[in-house]
Amino acid sequence: MIHAHVTAWLLALILFVVALSLHKKGNEKGFKILHMIIRVLYLIIIATGIGLLTQVYHIDWKYILKAVGGLWVIGSVEMILSRVAKNRRTSVFWVQFVVAFILVLYLGFAVLPMSIFRP
Ligand code: HEM
Repeated sequence: MIHAHVTAWLLALILFVVALSLHKKGNEKGFKILHMIIRVLYLIIIATGIGLLTQVYHIDWKYILKAVGGLWVIGSVEMILSRVAKNRRTSVFWVQFVVAFILVLYLGFAVLPMSIFRP
């Protein structure tokens, strides 16, 4: 489950970068298709995240913060993509994306116990 979770958000992150570069090059069709695929990945990230939560015996505030932070990352990615599509400003959402992403990486890799690096 943890591998599926990490694979899903890594893939979403890569496609996010590719989608933004396609938009920069004026490839609107490619951008739209990637945006759809990224939306499907949100669902997989959330489903695997909930799957991981069901394995936790005692869900404390760190898990709640991890889950809320993960949803915040997804929300900011979606805001950036939908605003880029309309050629609107995205700076506020970039700040949120960076803050939320750092928080979630810190909690996921350094604080919470499950890990892809341990069997
Ligand atoms: C883009 C959004 C997200 C990112 C970047 C992300 C990132 C991560 C990372 C880095 C880990 C730790 C992997 C490891 O230690 O090998 C992790 C684990 C986890 N994530 Fe997410 N996550 C996201 C969304 C979510 C959501 C929405 C939920 C809940 C609904 C969630 C719940 C969990 C849980 C429960 C764990 C296991 C924590 C543990 O016990 O170590 N994540 N995630």
